[in-house]
Amino acid sequence: MAENENIATLKIPGQEPVELPIKSGSEGQDVINISTLGTHGHFTYDPGFMATASCESEITFIDGAKGILLHRGYPIDQLATQSSYLEVCYLLLKGELPSAQQLQEFEALINSHTMVHEQIATFFKGFRRDAHPMAILCGVVGALSAFYHDSLDVNDEHHRHVAAIRLISKMPTLAAMAYKYNLGQPFVYPRNDLSFAGNFLQMMFSVPCEDYQVNPVVERAMDRIFILHADHEQNASTSTVRLAGSSGANPFACISAGVASLWGPAHGGANEACLNMLEEIGSVDRIPEFVARAKDKEDPFRLMGFGHRVYKNFDPRATVMRETCHEVLAELNIQDPLLDVAMELERIALSDDYFIQKKLYPNVDFYSGIIMKAIGIPTSMFTVIFALSRTVGWVSHWQEMLSQPGHKIGRPRQLYTGEKQRDYLPANQR
Ligand code: SDX
Repeated sequence: MAENENIATLKIPGQEPVELPIKSGSEGQDVINISTLGTHGHFTYDPGFMATASCESEITFIDGAKGILLHRGYPIDQLATQSSYLEVCYLLLKGELPSAQQLQEFEALINSHTMVHEQIATFFKGFRRDAHPMAILCGVVGALSAFYHDSLDVNDEHHRHVAAIRLISKMPTLAAMAYKYNLGQPFVYPRNDLSFAGNFLQMMFSVPCEDYQVNPVVERAMDRIFILHADHEQNASTSTVRLAGSSGANPFACISAGVASLWGPAHGGANEACLNMLEEIGSVDRIPEFVARAKDKEDPFRLMGFGHRVYKNFDPRATVMRETCHEVLAELNIQDPLLDVAMELERIALSDDYFIQKKLYPNVDFYSGIIMKAIGIPTSMFTVIFALSRTVGWVSHWQEMLSQPGHKIGRPRQLYTGEKQRDYLPANQR
């Protein structure tokens, strides 16, 4: 390290030492600014971005070693137990918790955008009834671009705000429509007299032929699931939204790209994959067989719902989610054999040397799937609910990126290992 503690000195063979500035944030690791390295004839190489900071952000801070997750400085466990999803949305978007008046106005603003254009309903008719709801969501969210494309200047802060509000408001409606379409039941319009979570539950579970009463315990659990999935720094789907947005693309298309990235089983698709895994395990006595497979390098099987790129001790969201899981099952008096399998799998994994050494702890997806199953939500809808929740995180990062002066289109470089230049040969000479 050079004498000046804010400079890193890079020694490249055959070249003069390269001095690179070190930047410090308010929390977490310092970063070495390598943006000028290209002028020294080198790129950095970091597949999977294991040690690469892609941007500067004030929204969320994660300390994987200490299991810390802060949204605008507020710890996730305090927000999950004392706040509401819409209040957390306001916090993520604006940077501060709202006053009572500000929250009331924000809730009214969200409520006034919950309906979607009636023409959107016709998009659903193009899907088979058994289409995966995430496939439907990718399509219909992207289709929103066709409804708002001409009224959005991404460089206009007010336009960006309107798009953000539209997306946060309409995702629950589109998510519930995807579920109703799968069931063959009529779409249910949003109701502005209910909470954000209560409205989502009634759009999912009410039918025209009878009244629907929102269960307050389920409503609270749903809101908590929304909060716990709201944002998570530069995860794969958020980075996808940022990269798509860096070209100036329509925000609805960018969020559709985020939905697609989240769908992967290594990311937001893990909650659905976790429940499918628990169902495949089926009973406590088969757990050792699957744990052995998870350890077998030759076997691609992984314990879904375990492990995390950043959290190497515990996922603070899983801690809150575990408590909620037991609350919901007690309230609904559900004796779920899958929960027995999940609890035993958790116990074994937390005591097994392999998982302890690899620091593979239950993540947020491990418990959220069990809660949603207990509420009566099918596994195919789990990632849809994750996408609904994460929309505020995606749009907050999208807004932050576009409001930063001098933001550039994202364009990584590569290490080329293909053929050197060679001449074309006509087919009869190959
Ligand atoms: C989310 O980034 C985010 O913030 C994501 C998220 C968010 O809110 O946005 O938190 C949401 O995506 C949570 C993660 C959900 N995914 C899963 O539950 C799927 C199962 N988990 C794994 O696929 C894995 O743990 C990842 C993808 C989550 C993390 O993988 P990493 O950090 O790239 O680690 P790795 O794949 O390099 O694994 C390190 C080692 C490997 O063994 P070795 O090659 O070192 O011998 O741990 C092993 C892996 O084989 N390993 C597992 C395992 N996860 C990692 N072994 C068994 N079961 C697992 N689940």
